[in-house]
Amino acid sequence: VIIVSSTFSIADYVLFIVQPRSVALKSWHALKTEMIIIFLISLAIINEKAGLMGDLIELSKDFDRKSKFIELTSSILNSVSRCRKITHRLLGFSKRIDIKIEPININHVINEVLDFLEKDVLYRKIDVTLILSGSLVTIESDHGQIQQILLNLLTNAFAAVEEFGAVEIESKNMDNGGVRVKISDNGCGIPPDVIKNIFDPFFSTKKEKGTGLGLSITYGIIKKLGGKISVDSKLGEGSVFTFELPEKPNDLEAIDG
Ligand SMILES: Nc1ncnc2c1ncn2[C@@H]1O[C@H](COP(=O)(O)OP(=O)(O)O)[C@@H](O)[C@H]1O
Ligand SMILES: [Mg+2]
Repeated sequence: VIIVSSTFSIADYVLFIVQPRSVALKSWHALKTEMIIIFLISLAIINEKAGLMGDLIELSKDFDRKSKFIELTSSILNSVSRCRKITHRLLGFSKRIDIKIEPININHVINEVLDFLEKDVLYRKIDVTLILSGSLVTIESDHGQIQQILLNLLTNAFAAVEEFGAVEIESKNMDNGGVRVKISDNGCGIPPDVIKNIFDPFFSTKKEKGTGLGLSITYGIIKKLGGKISVDSKLGEGSVFTFELPEKPNDLEAIDG
């Protein structure tokens, strides 16, 4: 974003693109800047690793005296966040169609998903601890589906903790050849009357911020891959989600169907 700010300030760019068209489309230069910022926002949506969402958040902090600017950037950020949710869901969906069983080291997938979420970790100052087994067995499973499981569980853990919260991810070999992954947070915890519903589709306590699909999808995937998931939680202290995946799914045909 900084690179293209020659004569206009970032605030001008943002004010510009939300103006009525008749006023806005004054010159080629202006049109060009509009295209550039739309392009950058698209990039932010498509590739969060470009760090553009983070740049937008940082920029919005610098303009704290311009309330209009804050209002506009926060509306852009909301849209980006909505688009991001949709892309997550679409990615999960396309992966679900295209199931591929291959050798997988879950530690690699954990690092991949954390990479994907690095901006959340950074900006919310979450303390992530990895306790990954150095001798973790390779399992036969579906890479995209495991990404989806970890993305859902980590997104929930991050949502549950306050700023400076702590999330711990542990991987371990099981005696029977499979792998166990434990995701613990020191967040809000889950009340006993809520915990029985959390794996139900569309159950959410997050109002308009949640879809209530994460855990039900996660549960479905783990079952399909021949594993299991459990939860242990204490209100006000935190939650632990533990899932296990076998060395090999037993019934490959059931998975294809
Ligand atoms: N780590 C967690 N800490 C506290 N509550 C959680 C955690 N994970 C899940 N939950 C509860 O389970 C509900 C369902 O989760 P999920 O299916 O992922 O839907 P969503 O995240 O969209 O609400 C959440 O709304 C929340 O109440
Ligand atoms: Mg969720």
